[in-house]
Amino acid sequence: MAKYTVITMPGDGIGNQVLPESLRVLKAVGFDADYIHADIGWDCWRAQGNALPDRTIDLLTEHKLGLFGAITSKPNKEAQAELKPELRGQGHVYYSPIVTMRQKFNLDICKRPCIGFIGNPLNYIRKRTDGGWDEPQINTTIFRQGTEGMYAGVEWTNPPENVRATLNSHPRFRAFANVPGPDLAVSVRIITRNAARRIVTAAFEYAKGRKFKAVTICEKPNVLRETSGLMEEVAKEVQKNYPDVQLWSTNIDAQLMWLNKNPEDYNVVVASNLFGDILSDAFAGLVGGLGFAASGNIGDEVAVFEPTHGSAPKYAELNPPIVNPIAMILSAALMVEHVGETDQAERIKNAVAAVVKEGKVRTYDMMRIPGGAKSIDQGAASTAQMADAILARL
Ligand code: NAI
Ligand code: MG
Repeated sequence: MAKYTVITMPGDGIGNQVLPESLRVLKAVGFDADYIHADIGWDCWRAQGNALPDRTIDLLTEHKLGLFGAITSKPNKEAQAELKPELRGQGHVYYSPIVTMRQKFNLDICKRPCIGFIGNPLNYIRKRTDGGWDEPQINTTIFRQGTEGMYAGVEWTNPPENVRATLNSHPRFRAFANVPGPDLAVSVRIITRNAARRIVTAAFEYAKGRKFKAVTICEKPNVLRETSGLMEEVAKEVQKNYPDVQLWSTNIDAQLMWLNKNPEDYNVVVASNLFGDILSDAFAGLVGGLGFAASGNIGDEVAVFEPTHGSAPKYAELNPPIVNPIAMILSAALMVEHVGETDQAERIKNAVAAVVKEGKVRTYDMMRIPGGAKSIDQGAASTAQMADAILARL
């Protein structure tokens, strides 16, 4: 029996193209695992009214380690229309299976490294005042709270009477008191002290382990006084346990503006769910974008690793596939690192780094050309060719 069992969930669209490539890499690096396929995503929704089937939940519960590709989500009306006819009108509600998975298994630590590879033509560059330019070495890892905040899912259009009554009791709600129910949508931003402490502690542990000098908490406590305020308060408490790591604090809006100024100064950034989602895409854009953005959703028991990109339906039917498998392969490396096989994880990352640095094999996104059937004719590597190049380096 292998040392690990990994539940593989390719999901929809390009998830089916990139996940198998990551498995080739895992095998080549000697990761000692059995793999069990599990269904997730749009086809499950259409056929069963549930995008995260019970079998998938059971397998994750049992084996605790998952590798996930991507899923397609659509707004509720479209989701209803695509349900198989006998399931329509029975109260099935589409929920994103990855959001559900994070909540169900309390995968609250969402770790998203945005680390630039030398030689990546997509890396951020900055113009100097003398007309030259710099390419700062960006090494940022975002710690995004994964289960609460604006994504807790507690929201209403036309809130029920008791909710409306509670809202009415807040002095600031007076301005909205006369808005008709159907014209009023409300989301609840939930921050709990315990979850805040867990994500901030994960960020500090990482910073300490890598000898980074600071953790930045990126919120908006001057406006979101209660929720961002609690995040900040907890961060200050946690910092006391890490005398060698400073706590910096930035506001989400200012931080995004500063991305253009000094992104290399931020090695570890921690934020609540929505802000962390925004920050991780923003930083990922500086180091190659969605083709490079890996992530881990880590709970106390279960952990699931995935590229941050979605199912990219417009490329899903191309043969050969053209999308960049690096984000998926780096997500697999994060999984390998998470279980403690750090040498293997390093070897995968080094192989990716070597291919990027050499620059001979580049997928269409790395060439800044439009994606499509013609990309290959223009010299872009296919998904499989990129994986082959990485395998050759292993
Ligand atoms: P997307 O991430 O699927 O694609 C956006 C664009 O990014 C693509 O059109 C492509 O140009 C580029 N791209 C994405 N992955 C790439 C790769 N590996 N290599 C090269 N280029 C890549 O986001 P989009 O189009 O907004 O959403 C498509 C579907 O995916 C939607 O149904 C959405 O709900 C879902 N989605 C799922 C996510 C997940 O599974 N975690 C995350 C984001 C979106
Ligand atoms: Mg996102």
